Order: sequence, then C-alpha cells, then structure tokens
Amino acid sequence: MSLQFKTLDDVDFAGKRVLIRVDINCSVDPETKEITDDSRIDAILPTLRELNKSKTVLMAHQGRPGSDDFISLEAHTNILRKHGLKASFVDDIFGDKAKTAIKKVAVGEILVLQNVRYFDGEMKNAPPEEVAEEPLVQELYPLFDLFVNDAFGAAHRSQASIVGFTTVLPSVAGRLVEKEIRTLTDATATDQHPWTLVLGGAKVDDKVEILRKLLAADRVDNALLGGLLGTLFLIAKGLVSEEYSKPIKGFEDALNTAKQIIAKYPDVIILPEDAAVERNGKRFECEFSQMNGDPFFDIGPKTTKKYVEAIRGSAVVFANGPMGFFEKDAFAKGTSEVLDAIADCEGITVVGGGHMGAMALKKDFGDRITHISTGGGATINFLTGKKLDLIVALEAAAKRT
Ligand code: 3PG
Ligand code: MG
Repeated sequence: MSLQFKTLDDVDFAGKRVLIRVDINCSVDPETKEITDDSRIDAILPTLRELNKSKTVLMAHQGRPGSDDFISLEAHTNILRKHGLKASFVDDIFGDKAKTAIKKVAVGEILVLQNVRYFDGEMKNAPPEEVAEEPLVQELYPLFDLFVNDAFGAAHRSQASIVGFTTVLPSVAGRLVEKEIRTLTDATATDQHPWTLVLGGAKVDDKVEILRKLLAADRVDNALLGGLLGTLFLIAKGLVSEEYSKPIKGFEDALNTAKQIIAKYPDVIILPEDAAVERNGKRFECEFSQMNGDPFFDIGPKTTKKYVEAIRGSAVVFANGPMGFFEKDAFAKGTSEVLDAIADCEGITVVGGGHMGAMALKKDFGDRITHISTGGGATINFLTGKKLDLIVALEAAAKRT
C-alpha cells in the first residue's frame, strides 16, 4: 500500500534536532504508582534507536488530569535507560528549564520532557491550526528541525502535541505509526464474516460513541460487551440496578446512547448473562439478581462460555478493553479466557489497547494473534473508516512540503 504521509525514509535526520511525540501511556498500579506494564515503551524502541544520529527530544502523556495513572514521565525515562538509551529527564515542558535542556541535547541523546498533559491546553481537542496556537507549540517549534509522530495510541486525539506541530515543522511518521497503519489496513481489507467486536474497559463515554459509529458503518455482526461498558448496557436494559452506574463517568449521556443503540441494533449487541462480584474479598459468581450491590468486577462463567463460542466461530475479531477489573487477579478470568479464544480463532484477530494488548503479550500470543496493536481507542476509531486525526495532519504536512 502506498502511504499518503511521509516516514523516516523520506527525510534526512542525521545531526538534526528532532521532536518526537510517542504514546508511552503505561498501566500504573493505582496505589504504588509504579509502572506495571511497559509494552508501549518496547514498541517505540525501533524508532528511538533509528534516531540515534539525531538530537532527540521526546514528548508524551501519561494518564489524564485527575486519574490514578496521571504521573511524571521520570519513571518512563528510567525504563528507556534500562534499554540502553542515553535518556535524561527534565521536569518541565516548554518553560525556560525545558528550553535550556533542549538546547544542550547532543547527537545520540534523548531528552524526555515532563508529562505533556500537565499543561492544561493539551487536553483541548481542536483542528491542527487552532491547537498550533497553544504556547506548547509556539514556544517549542523554533527549537527543532523535524517533528516525528509515533504516538499511535493517541492517533485519534486532535491535541496540540499530536497535530499542532505538523502545521509548523516538517513532519513524518515514526516506525510504529507506519507499522500500525499498514497492518490495520491489511487486516480490515477482508469482507469475510462473521465480524466480531469485543469491547470492554472503562472509558465508557468514548467507547459508547465509537460503538455507535462502528455499528453505523455496518461492519459488525456481533458486539460482545464487557467491563464498565457492559455494565452500562445492562443498566440500560434494566437487567442491573442503577447503583452500578457510580464508576461510570458521563453516565446520563452514555445511558441515552446505549438505549438508542439497543433499540437500533438489538441482534448485534450481545451482553453479559451473569456476573462475578467481589464478596468478602473473594470472587463470587452469580446471577444479576444475586449481586446485592457488591462490586461487579468480571463477567461470569455463562457469559464467558457464550463469548468464547462466538469468538471461535468468527472470521474477524477485533478486541479492545478488558472484560473486568483485570488488575485484580481473581477478576482477570473473563478477559483471560476471551483472549485464549481469540488466540484459538482461525480468522483475522486484532487485539488493541494498553491493557488487553499487554495481557496478550504476557500470554506470549504474538504468533497466534494477527496483530497486537498499541492503540485502543485509536484502533477502534480506525475501524470506523474515518481517518485518524494524526494521519490527517501528517498527510496535510506532506502536501505542504
Ligand atoms: C490510550 O491509552 O488509549 C491512549 O494513550 C490515549 O489516551 P486518552 O484516551 O487518555 O486520550
Ligand atoms: Mg488505554
């Protein structure tokens, strides 16, 4: 396939001052704040190693303001060092401290800036020309010769660090973005059915919208739902009490969308039939009527069996987001068995997202799953057929030069 954007093959970056945006948003232990999975760091190593002839400055986010995993990028820098890279960290993004450090970067070195979402303006989503006005872009771009975007996981965000720099600097994709786009394009080129989507996780407001778009694109035959997203749909159907809506952000809007989706696609949406709750500190499997307000942390055995059968019989499976609170071992069962079924499936299989992707890698499923993507929301957005914001911006940059 021919790409409409430029890659590292199209530019000379030796000796140049390169700003690279990556997505190394890692799973973080909510209590200790330690990084528990760094597979997204592994995924950008090829690009960083290729840039060893440049003066490289790395920009990335971790978590969202207010979330448990909203931490400094110092820990990520230490991991880069363990991989043998000459990485250092500066606790600043675009202030004097950062600028001074940026000017000192030598060939072969990598300077990691602080979590870009510590800057409020980064959370704004707007067209590239608009976010390019943010001080983040205006203060930093004169210090660089080239912008490399390798942040595939955040490719669906039209934020300053993702699309802003592409309007003011020569801009190319990194190796990970290139690989993800090529692989996902191939994987979605088939018209085979049944086409199964496995969707779970916690970012319910995002996911319910993307589910609506995907269903409208008329591609999905079965949407197997789990995690908090599954809980939302069970509440919408009146099968689970509304008290379970507490952890769901933006519940009222999401509930309306879920109700519309159920009404429009009753045969496509497939929901859990039983639950695993936490009772007296342990996993307890039960019917919805027996949940008694205890935390709903996983899909139950009947649900798992149904999901496993649907997955095994599919021609294409795309999965994103865990089926339950998989960070707690007792509640990783549903997600784990769903992943085993995906590995067993003989069709085209793509698993995406920090959490599910990490579990697939831990299970050593690299050879049994067609593609383990670093993108969660990005990959699901890709499926709707609408071009990702990061790609649109890189394509526009390619046309300008
Ligand atoms: C992700 O983990 O999906 C990406 O890093 C994007 O994060 P976001 O959903 O907070 O923008
Ligand atoms: Mg994620």
